Amino acid sequence: MTRFGHFDDERREYRIERPDTPLPWINYLGSDEFFSLISNTGGGYSFFRDARLRRVTRYRYNNVPLDTGGRALYLRDRATAEFWSPLRQSAHHDLDAYECAHGLGYTRIGSQHLGIEAETLFFVPFDDPVEIWRTRITNRRDRAASLSLFSAVEFCLWDAWDDATNFQRNLSIGEVEVEAGVVYHKTEYRERRDHFAYFGCSEPLAGFDTRLDRFLGPQRGWDRPLVVERGESTNSIAHGWAPCGSHHVSLELEPGESRDIVFVLGYAENSRNAKFDPPGSQTIAKAGARAVLARYLEASETTLAFAQLREHWDRLLEPLQVTTPNAHVDRTVNVWNAYQCMITFNLSRSASFFESGIGRGMGFRDSNQDLLGFVHMVPEQARARILDLAATQLASGGAYHQYQPLTKRGNDAVGSGFNDDPLWLVLAVAAYLKETGDSTILDEQVPYDNAPNSESTLTEHLRRSISYTLARRGPHGLPLIGRADWNDCLNLNCFSETPGEPFQTTENRHGGVAESVFIAGLFALAAGELATIAERAGRTAEGTQLRAARAEMQAAVREHGWDGSWFLRAYDYSGAPVGSAANDEGQIFVEPQGMCVMGGIGLDDGRARTALESVASRLATPHGIALLQPAYSRYHVELGEISSYPPGYKENGSVFCHTNPWIMIAETIVGNGDRAFDYYLRINPSAREDIGELHRCEPYVAAQTIAGPEAAEPGEAKNSWLTGTAAWNYVAMTQWILGIRPELDGLRVDPCLPSGWDGYRATRRFRGAEYRIVVRKPAGRAGRATALVVDGRPVDGTLVPLAPAGTTVEVELTLA
Ligand code: BGC
Ligand code: NOJ
Repeated sequence: MTRFGHFDDERREYRIERPDTPLPWINYLGSDEFFSLISNTGGGYSFFRDARLRRVTRYRYNNVPLDTGGRALYLRDRATAEFWSPLRQSAHHDLDAYECAHGLGYTRIGSQHLGIEAETLFFVPFDDPVEIWRTRITNRRDRAASLSLFSAVEFCLWDAWDDATNFQRNLSIGEVEVEAGVVYHKTEYRERRDHFAYFGCSEPLAGFDTRLDRFLGPQRGWDRPLVVERGESTNSIAHGWAPCGSHHVSLELEPGESRDIVFVLGYAENSRNAKFDPPGSQTIAKAGARAVLARYLEASETTLAFAQLREHWDRLLEPLQVTTPNAHVDRTVNVWNAYQCMITFNLSRSASFFESGIGRGMGFRDSNQDLLGFVHMVPEQARARILDLAATQLASGGAYHQYQPLTKRGNDAVGSGFNDDPLWLVLAVAAYLKETGDSTILDEQVPYDNAPNSESTLTEHLRRSISYTLARRGPHGLPLIGRADWNDCLNLNCFSETPGEPFQTTENRHGGVAESVFIAGLFALAAGELATIAERAGRTAEGTQLRAARAEMQAAVREHGWDGSWFLRAYDYSGAPVGSAANDEGQIFVEPQGMCVMGGIGLDDGRARTALESVASRLATPHGIALLQPAYSRYHVELGEISSYPPGYKENGSVFCHTNPWIMIAETIVGNGDRAFDYYLRINPSAREDIGELHRCEPYVAAQTIAGPEAAEPGEAKNSWLTGTAAWNYVAMTQWILGIRPELDGLRVDPCLPSGWDGYRATRRFRGAEYRIVVRKPAGRAGRATALVVDGRPVDGTLVPLAPAGTTVEVELTLA
């Protein structure tokens, strides 16, 4: 058992005790326009709004070590010429003490070495596009210390893709200005850009550098910069090559004395006609940037901005707080899972240590699902997100697979024709309506493909999502899969034989009949949601029609989507079954087992339970539920990318965590709280903290994938942070296991708890009222709700009626 840190639940921090975590364990700073990734040793990078097009600092891909570069600080003892980095350890200087605390929107890295303590707080305040580093240096020696403090960042030449590839141009274009100790990075400002970056410091400087080659010295890396070794900056001015920003501050500290030094890394824009000052010159107009800088170099302002940040997060987390018998549940629900959901809201799948920030935009299905996890925290932003997504929907009801955050226009860059995509919009809108009761969103006029004059109501968009599926059914009455469904790698129409050809964008073969049982389950779920919405709006006939379509789809699954002991996965191009006992490999897939049960299939004929038994016996592993079994041991041209992965990895039979909560939800639907909770813990990062060395990813956030039983190292996680696992885990635990479920007419409280529990307490803010929930249950029994008491009065069933905004509602529920 190796632990690399611990949770500080009180302060809502994860504290990393050793810098040598198996991977960089990162955090995110920023919540509006300026965002940063920061690792536990200060690695990572910053960008303004778009991780590709407005990259502020450089990240060198495929680094060794992985988080080389990023933010650098060095201390040098002038008496002995010894130097070290207070943020990280390297072969040359081991720190005497180190700790990194990742909190909500901030990171603090502290260390002690040779009697000098250094603690740096990194955060991005609300009001301005800047990253603040507040460093406190304390002399713990019994004699005076004479020190040099060096800072450094390397700038990115804005477009991160071009920056990483187009050297013949880029090594000639770098430009900076240095004025009053502030380094301004202004590459391409002279021509079409109207933005620049800057790096300032609160102290008078002993020197600076803006040429990375001068700062590091020939043949050296970040572990041993020549300038630091010599204790002298070169005051270099970059022309081309690699522009950087470095400050040198001299410190004389008496024993016990502390000094605070603030560094500010900022992004600024000027209007096109006021770029230069004096006008006509080539000098950046800096008044705006200077004002922002002056504010944050003031210690009291920084303190205030940080306090605001903490309050903001406390407010965001307020809508749901729980106290249960399990510490993993409490910290996950109350803090880290909710936090991760907000990070997926901000970043979608764009920038992490696994997503390069130069590839994918906002996924249509991803963003719709992410919304399920953040709608209660930021309902207005969820509303805007829904309308943005719907505006990229196509008139056919189909959807672009992604859109770019900067333009909000859909594109086919990562493929098109994923036939599950439009249905997720229905789930997102349903979740929004249940949370907020704001049915005005349904009447919003929303365009198709952002085309002027194509507007219809959002309701009509949802109808088209449904009719898109109905119009595309195969010989078994099941939905055609198109390019793929939720499983991007199940490319049943692709037949790629060309090395390196992208499975997602290669021309599909036409004339096939590949069908998806998963989409059928999703359709049943979505059609049920839309039927309820229509009925609520008084459109009874439409509701009836939708319910009939749902029943028809459920019947098609019963007839053609059942393999005997589990739901089939699909029919391939030529009509052969996928995910069937008749197959040699890939006999059972997890996705349809969860989604069909969620779509109400098999609840009355025992198949739901049978399918879940099969999941338990064939797919469940100690590290979570594998996506399929047995994994494909060779390439199947008729299946596509799924079989391109070695067995046990990613879509080819890893524990693809996103799917696990569907099974947890299905288990609660059939009343099996023990199993639901057991599955929850198997992939819960906090519950896996003790196997950190194997798990490797951060213990405070979920990862996309955990290597499956056929992998070389089962249990090894990858692709942390930006995954639909965040939203679905949150939904599975809070809405189905704890059972606190927003509905159109009130707050459902219908838990399905593990038998060992004796209940739990929760406070839930819902439509302006506060519900104080106490659930009691005899420990040792798998109980379901028997008696609901609301404000002292018994209520039939499990639906707590809506209370007026501003009121407090006492909810007591007994399970037996
Ligand atoms: C990955 C999928 C992902 C897809 C995105 C594939 O390589 O395996 O998980 O959804 O790329 O386009
Ligand atoms: C990750 C993608 O972002 C998501 O859209 C997809 O459903 C899963 N991979 C499964 O392929």
